[in-house]
Amino acid sequence: MLRDRVVVVGVSGGIAAYRACELVRRLRDRGATVVVAMTRAAGEFVTPLTFQALSGNPVVSELWGDQRPRFDLPLESLGKVRGHVEHVDVAEVADAVVLAPTTADLMARLVHGEAPDALTSLVLATTAPLVIAPAMDLNMWQADATQSNARTLRARGFRFVGPDSGPLASGLAGPGRLAEVGAIVDEVDAALRLRTSMKGMRVLIGAGRTEEPLDPVRVLTNRSSGRMGLALAEAARDRGAEVIVVTGPVSVDMPHGVSVVPVMTALQMERAMAGHAGKATVVIMAAAVADYRPAKLATQKLKRDNASLNVPLVANPDILAGLGAAKRKGQTVVGFALETQNGIANARKKLEAKNADLIVLNTPEAGIGGGTNTVTLVEARSTVELPESSKREVAERILDRVLELRGDTAKSPKLKLTKPTAARRAARKSR
Ligand SMILES: Cc1cc2nc3c(=O)[nH]c(=O)nc-3n(C[C@H](O)[C@H](O)[C@H](O)COP(=O)(O)O)c2cc1C
Repeated sequence: MLRDRVVVVGVSGGIAAYRACELVRRLRDRGATVVVAMTRAAGEFVTPLTFQALSGNPVVSELWGDQRPRFDLPLESLGKVRGHVEHVDVAEVADAVVLAPTTADLMARLVHGEAPDALTSLVLATTAPLVIAPAMDLNMWQADATQSNARTLRARGFRFVGPDSGPLASGLAGPGRLAEVGAIVDEVDAALRLRTSMKGMRVLIGAGRTEEPLDPVRVLTNRSSGRMGLALAEAARDRGAEVIVVTGPVSVDMPHGVSVVPVMTALQMERAMAGHAGKATVVIMAAAVADYRPAKLATQKLKRDNASLNVPLVANPDILAGLGAAKRKGQTVVGFALETQNGIANARKKLEAKNADLIVLNTPEAGIGGGTNTVTLVEARSTVELPESSKREVAERILDRVLELRGDTAKSPKLKLTKPTAARRAARKSR
């Protein structure tokens, strides 16, 4: 996958910067065109000249002045370089960006979208997949700020490799070592594979909550933020899929690069999902749809005239069941279940009743509203409990599984399954 791909190696100022030399060599050995972008601090450890010689390309290290690189060959010969703003040009031609080593400082700048130097500007300007290999002292890695930064970057789709554990330059031992160069190369390769793993597929996602109007100002709804559905949309987009999101109100920004169909009520969502499902390869119903809606919509605002108010409700359509019933050959249907008791048994019932291929089970404490989720993937013959992770990471695991179910695993990296948990072992025993 690396052959003829443009890989940017971003080097920041840590002791492990010298190992980026080996990384450049190994990427080139695998056929990649490599451009090194480095911070000033990195230049204190390894000179730009070394990276220029190893990569065979000018090094991106300065935003200003004479040291800005001039790309004659081979980037221009790839026919991709358009303008004359080097860090943006390189950001655009990059098929992947790998930051190795990544300092604690660089991670902090990335989290805040700061771009004071050529490397951070390039990272902001690229849409290529980003692999990040941190390397630092044990305490720096374990500092709350760094851990929080790592969580944020993971949630944004950065792929972490390492840090490994072992003796560190500071004399301490523990996590902080740059990952093995081979593992970093493999991760770049996986990121490139992933990028096209859903190419040619149309993915339809139901997201957000529905709002069922009671009167002109009041609605019946729930606390879903829409984050899970939108994380799925981002992950599918980044794998090359054409993504359509039918979404009720959400509490977060819509991802770019996906088609958005806004709806408000369950009835509108049902119509929109059914309308787009026919041409979808994968249908994921992650929306929190109100089970009931007020039987009558009051035309005027309801007054507080009485001590109590009875609002008759009628059941909304079961959107997932409708999608499952209409499932066509070769289509994969995924539903979500939020259960407060007998989760796995109920999810499995739902799987069968709705003709779904996979049910993602979560609990209200684990998923609603927050940035992380703890889910169990429930299928006819297996359950896989995933550890608490950012919604983006959960989305990636769900899509990995979807591809496995479709038999497209060759195109996607293997699903990293967690060790069987007590719940999984119990479920196995009960079979
Ligand atoms: C000798 C030396 C070694 C360093 N090693 C590391 C390191 O391994 N990891 C790290 O995060 N910072 C390390 N630092 C601190 C960074 O160089 C410093 O935070 C710098 O601002 C990073 O800049 P950059 O992110 O732009 O490269 C080291 C500093 C010195 C002087």
